[in-house]
Amino acid sequence: MTHLLGIDTSTTATKALLIDEEGSVVAVAAAEYPFDSPNPGWTEQDPALFWNGTVQSICAVLAKAKISGKDVAAVGLTGQMHGMTLLDAHGEVIRPCILWNDQRTAQQCEFITTLVGAERVLQLTGNPILTGFTAPKIVWTREHEPENYARIAHILLPKDYVRYKLTGDFFSDVADSSGTSLFDVGKRRWSEEMLTALQISRVWLPEVTESPVASTKINADAAQATGLLAGTPIVAGGGDQAAQAVGAGIVREGTVAVTIGTSGVVFAQSDSYRVEPQGRLHAFCHAVPGKWHLMGVMLSAGGSFRWYRDALTSNESYDSLTQAAAEVTAGSEGLLFLPYLTGERTPHPDPHARGAFIGLSIRHTKPHLTRAVIEGVTFGLRDSLELMRALGVPTQQVRASGGGAKSEMWRQILADIFNAEIVTVNSTEGAAYGAALLAGVGAGIYPSVEAAADRAIRITGAHQPARDTDLYADYYARYRALYPALKAEFAALAKIISPLGD
Ligand code: XUL
Repeated sequence: MTHLLGIDTSTTATKALLIDEEGSVVAVAAAEYPFDSPNPGWTEQDPALFWNGTVQSICAVLAKAKISGKDVAAVGLTGQMHGMTLLDAHGEVIRPCILWNDQRTAQQCEFITTLVGAERVLQLTGNPILTGFTAPKIVWTREHEPENYARIAHILLPKDYVRYKLTGDFFSDVADSSGTSLFDVGKRRWSEEMLTALQISRVWLPEVTESPVASTKINADAAQATGLLAGTPIVAGGGDQAAQAVGAGIVREGTVAVTIGTSGVVFAQSDSYRVEPQGRLHAFCHAVPGKWHLMGVMLSAGGSFRWYRDALTSNESYDSLTQAAAEVTAGSEGLLFLPYLTGERTPHPDPHARGAFIGLSIRHTKPHLTRAVIEGVTFGLRDSLELMRALGVPTQQVRASGGGAKSEMWRQILADIFNAEIVTVNSTEGAAYGAALLAGVGAGIYPSVEAAADRAIRITGAHQPARDTDLYADYYARYRALYPALKAEFAALAKIISPLGD
């Protein structure tokens, strides 16, 4: 029987997942690893962890499924985006990979933005320069570690380092490359203009293809280490967000994914290249060839609910909290919650933004507070959806996943606040699952990414917008007015807490 293997090099583990031709999950194995924070705001990982995790998880998943390497038709790679892995001319790692959530490069972001011009950066790369992205990390290395910079022969994203170890070749894909600030997202190729401006050599960067293209093959050394067969094709794959979207069936315009984990992500396919004029949404190439995607990231979504439970209830279960909150009317009788507990990314890129309850009265009880937190997070997610709607992206159906979406009550609130159908789907394995589907396209098992998703992914439940939609529209207008009203106060508070701004 033919199997397809997806490998996800995430920040916490490498996950290997096998599916059959129907898209059913056959086995999953993961190898966990830590990350380092050598200074406040810094995050790094030794790329050896990515490779050891890959070997371990592939061996374990083949053993679990009781199959051998010859039963695997193709491999798809995905992983954490934006990380900078530097190799020298001998293919040796120069320094630990600087990760997507590292915050050390504020000055380098400013330098690049001034050098190229904010508007030109947006035109070329679809996004502002952000601290987590790859280019400012390269500039940081040039400024702070010239001896390391002098040795650079290759710059790779985390999953592409795994590919190098599996194949000896240097390749990437359009979706993951979109998060480097060096990629012309509209034209789907490296931006000569960005590279020239930053004096970054084109030969340091890998060849780039569309995500389902079988660009290279497992070599003999990797076959020996993993049990896969030498010559097994590897498709280009994609960054974790694009691959996860493929795995949830977000492969056509009009279908949007909302993921409520610690953070909240709103992800929409866009058939044409659209850029939010102020760069408030990420605009990246999608893993569907010739398509793009827009993405909003909220930092504390499920994280707000967890904070609320831990800080303001006696560790009550989420179920009992939501059951009681279901008895409260929509809008929590005038109580609004701002979910900016760890600052915010979309739509307010503001590290000083903070949470708030607004409108408390003597009538409010714990269930009101619970409901207000869930509603506040959902209003925050709607902000991303509205930015997409303003760009003309259709948003008829929203596919909800993540811990928050397990609650029936939260899904109904999503439907009412978004004024859109909210559905759940059968696939819950995330990015590795999407990477395995992409491998199936590369191996010729599915004729296209759309066909792969249609074959594998089914809708398991639906909620329609109901009677509270109009009331929520009124509350949403009030919610939107709150951040602009409080912005200066958040900044002033931050100054009191940390007068030197550190
Ligand atoms: C995407 C992003 C994260 C990382 C880590 O822009 O920053 O999804 O890829 O998973």
